[in-house]
Amino acid sequence: MKTIIAAALFAALGAGAAFAQADVIKARQEAMKAAGQATAPVGKMLKGEEAFDLAKVRAALAAYQDTAAKAPTLFPDNSKTGGDTAALPAVWEKKAEFEAKFAAWGAESKAAAAAIKDEASFKATFPNVLKNCGGCHETYRAKKS
Ligand code: HEC
Repeated sequence: MKTIIAAALFAALGAGAAFAQADVIKARQEAMKAAGQATAPVGKMLKGEEAFDLAKVRAALAAYQDTAAKAPTLFPDNSKTGGDTAALPAVWEKKAEFEAKFAAWGAESKAAAAAIKDEASFKATFPNVLKNCGGCHETYRAKKS
């Protein structure tokens, strides 16, 4: 009897953990996706394919700060694998550096939001903020083929 209860409890806890793990992977991918979607129009502005729009630039920088603030809590130890995560083991092997990159990205986005007032300051500042994306993905995200 005891073993049956223990087994049932274990199964329930195991299922709970798996669910939470899939959830957290989904949550971090959604947060990153929001950053990606906010970047799309801004990337076009940088290439001159879309007219400069300060509101969209500010929205992107706000999305970056939001993702950078949330992200460090979205990589718990039980989420190294699972779902369709592209996070590399380096995330957990070099956790302090990884989290420092999020902090730097958030801080740079905040500074850029204050510095960007017009198209000229946008073109001078925004590309540096975007270096944070590749600078982190290079080491911490698997390339999807
Ligand atoms: C400090 C690290 C870091 C920074 C900075 C960062 N990312 Fe990411 N990003 C990741 C990691 C890790 C993943 C993989 C998450 C996973 O699959 O579990 C990811 C995934 C993504 C994805 C795929 C989401 C999905 O649907 O699976 C997009 C899009 C993305 N990032 C865009 C951006 C953009 C745009 C920026 C900059 C404006 C950025 N990221 C900055 C670490 C970072």
